[in-house]
Amino acid sequence: MTKMKLSANMKKVLNDQILLEASASNSYLAMASWCEITGYQGAANYFYAQSDEERTHMLKIVHYLNSLGTPATIPAIKAPVSSYKSLEELIKTALKNEQSVTKAIHHMVEITQKEKDHSTYAFLEWFVNEQVQEETKFETILQKFDLLGRDKLAIHEIDKLLAADAASVESDPPA
Ligand code: FEO
Repeated sequence: MTKMKLSANMKKVLNDQILLEASASNSYLAMASWCEITGYQGAANYFYAQSDEERTHMLKIVHYLNSLGTPATIPAIKAPVSSYKSLEELIKTALKNEQSVTKAIHHMVEITQKEKDHSTYAFLEWFVNEQVQEETKFETILQKFDLLGRDKLAIHEIDKLLAADAASVESDPPA
């Protein structure tokens, strides 16, 4: 059986998505490092795990393209922002990042529908669901600042919650 062929446009957006996932991984790594150096060890563990998770997202697309005989393009990644005013600002940035990733995924889904590319549509379904989870995760953390406050004690509590979440991210089955 001959392999399905991706359209030029589909190849482009999938390769662009490799860059987005790689950039997310890099950005979360920088966030983890900032948290670690600032004394938020729970948040640091959380973002180190999150960075690894984004790398698995990137790899999924690399493997998908390669499996169709379309060589994946491994991109250069820009240096991420390396310092933040507060943990809350950092989480807000992470949520914004996820929102733009969601937009890109939805855009790709629209292309698969237009092109009747059922295989890529099915492949992207996992990402659509994953994005709902990722946005919810960061929204839930942000709510904690409103619920618990922003003083040192509250941030310490939030850091502890993130430590517990980090343990669950690490134990997620590999994507
Ligand atoms: Fe892979 Fe968080 O988007």
